[in-house]
Amino acid sequence: MINLQQLLDDYYKPQRPNIWLQLLSELEPIKETPNPMNQPDDIYNMEENPYLFRYDASNEIHPTAIIDKCVQMGKGNKIGAFTVIGSNGEIRGAKEFHGTVIIGDNNVISEHVTIQRPAEEGKSTVIGNGNLIMAHSHIGHDAQIGHECEICTGTIIGGYASVEDHTKLKLGVIIRNRKTVKKNSVVGMGGVVVKDVREGTTVIGVPAKEILK
Ligand SMILES: CC(C)(COP(=O)(O)OP(=O)(O)OC[C@H]1O[C@@H](n2cnc3c(N)ncnc32)[C@H](O)[C@@H]1OP(=O)(O)O)[C@@H](O)C(=O)NCCC(=O)NCCS
Repeated sequence: MINLQQLLDDYYKPQRPNIWLQLLSELEPIKETPNPMNQPDDIYNMEENPYLFRYDASNEIHPTAIIDKCVQMGKGNKIGAFTVIGSNGEIRGAKEFHGTVIIGDNNVISEHVTIQRPAEEGKSTVIGNGNLIMAHSHIGHDAQIGHECEICTGTIIGGYASVEDHTKLKLGVIIRNRKTVKKNSVVGMGGVVVKDVREGTTVIGVPAKEILK
């Protein structure tokens, strides 16, 4: 059995003092509910990331990923290196953050992705099922991502925006906050969405406009 206190002191304290402090403050609940799914300890790989034990063992979470305790996650997700999920949304003037991030099943979230939480109690940033979210993408607070979407590298989704099912946001797309990209649509690479995108359409450009298919 791993001694969590020793792990924190030996590894996190010298190398990642901020995380060490955060984990230290949560040590008691961790001790009380070790290994909740009653799986062998090594599945949780607690030496690399003590937070892993919070999630189903079918999730593959890179040890350098930072996943806040406000995050709820389903099964079968892959989370890449240096991705940060559940940090506070960038909301001017917000002082306290009570929102959550909900991630469904079977999503692939690559490296250096950021997904932020809402400020307001009871609100969530939501990622559905089966999405592919590529490296360096950003998903702002309160955003809603449906199912089976493809969000390509470097895409920025503003706060409160919605991306419906089976949508493809190609390389380096920007979605203005509070806008909706309706289902089965495509935003071509580099497109800047400033108005809602109609269902089943392809838009390109700055500002993004519909093209004939
Ligand atoms: C929007 C898109 C799907 C259109 O593809 P397409 O129908 O094959 O279009 P074409 O390449 O034949 O280009 C048609 C015209 O639109 C222009 N065009 C294509 N994509 C464009 C874009 N994203 N923004 C602005 N103009 C674009 C082309 O220059 C061409 O203009 P022209 O007729 O004056 O020469 C495609 O350009 C795109 O964005 N693909 C995404 C690529 C990508 O992100 N791949 C990585 C996935 S991980």
